[in-house]
Amino acid sequence: PAEDEARIEEIKHLLEANNAVLVAHYYTDDAIQQLAEETGGCVADSLEMARFGARHEADTLVVAGVRFMGETAKILSPEKRVLMPTLEATCSLDVGCPADAFSAFCDAHPDRTVVVYANTSAAVKARADWVVTSSIAVDVIEHLQARGEKILWAPDKHLGGYIQKQTGADMLLWDGACIVHEEFKAKGVEDLKGLYPEAAVLVHPESPASVVELADVAGSTSQLIKAAKELPHDKLIVATDRGIFFKMQQAVPEKTLFEAPTAGNGATCKSCAHCPWMAMNALDNLAGTLRDGSGEIFVDEAVRLAALKPLERMLNFQK
Ligand code: 13P
Ligand code: SF4
Repeated sequence: PAEDEARIEEIKHLLEANNAVLVAHYYTDDAIQQLAEETGGCVADSLEMARFGARHEADTLVVAGVRFMGETAKILSPEKRVLMPTLEATCSLDVGCPADAFSAFCDAHPDRTVVVYANTSAAVKARADWVVTSSIAVDVIEHLQARGEKILWAPDKHLGGYIQKQTGADMLLWDGACIVHEEFKAKGVEDLKGLYPEAAVLVHPESPASVVELADVAGSTSQLIKAAKELPHDKLIVATDRGIFFKMQQAVPEKTLFEAPTAGNGATCKSCAHCPWMAMNALDNLAGTLRDGSGEIFVDEAVRLAALKPLERMLNFQK
């Protein structure tokens, strides 16, 4: 539409005028992902978003995604202004792991190394020994297990259970889940696979174990896009937020992609997965925050310094 075109031109202008760069997650709207690419920003998984923002020389980072992604950017780059299209965009994992209750849980298990998923508040990260994203979680836990460490993991029980299975590590799990990935049902994926037996199944490990078990490849958003390219299959069933289809289809234009059903009993997608918080990012509020700075992220300095340590461990981790 013409008004989108006008908004896109305005955003391009504002990015330049503010010496700002747009860092977008794969689950945001296609128009935002495209804009990030066209303007020298990035579209990425949460680990690459953190790395890109920390290294970029822009004065302002505009993070299109959910709150923890903006906070991570600010923790790593306190000298930069970090803006988000909306500060309302949270994540069920973050909401389900309040800092006070989490801190009490850690206090009750002082013998365990605390590893938290990036999808948490700055205050929760501040209590952790390590932060990980899904693309690096298995490698980090393997490393800690080899050192004989017992793990306290939060908040995603499905991702935690998956890592536990992969590594055999001793992990005590917090009871949290992603409301989007939790909706995928093994029955629905099996039915679709019944229709297309030659298809490969790609699953984000925030999904329930019964769905991950059906996966040819389980991994972060970037890892799933890589797998789509590398697998020989022409048909792919994909269990993650449908935002990923924009970049995945560009990566494999010749392949057929199917959204894994969330209904559990149908071969077609009845209510496809899409994160309601990622969906809050739009061209209008993106232009708005660049115009008036309304979505600026601030992190308390003591919390920031404490959260920086486990985040830096993640960024410096080498397999
Ligand atoms: P990725 O690190 O795989 O991008 O995952 C972030 C996320 O929120 C998935 O739901
Ligand atoms: Fe959080 Fe799930 Fe949304 Fe990712 S898709 S931001 S884990 S609620």
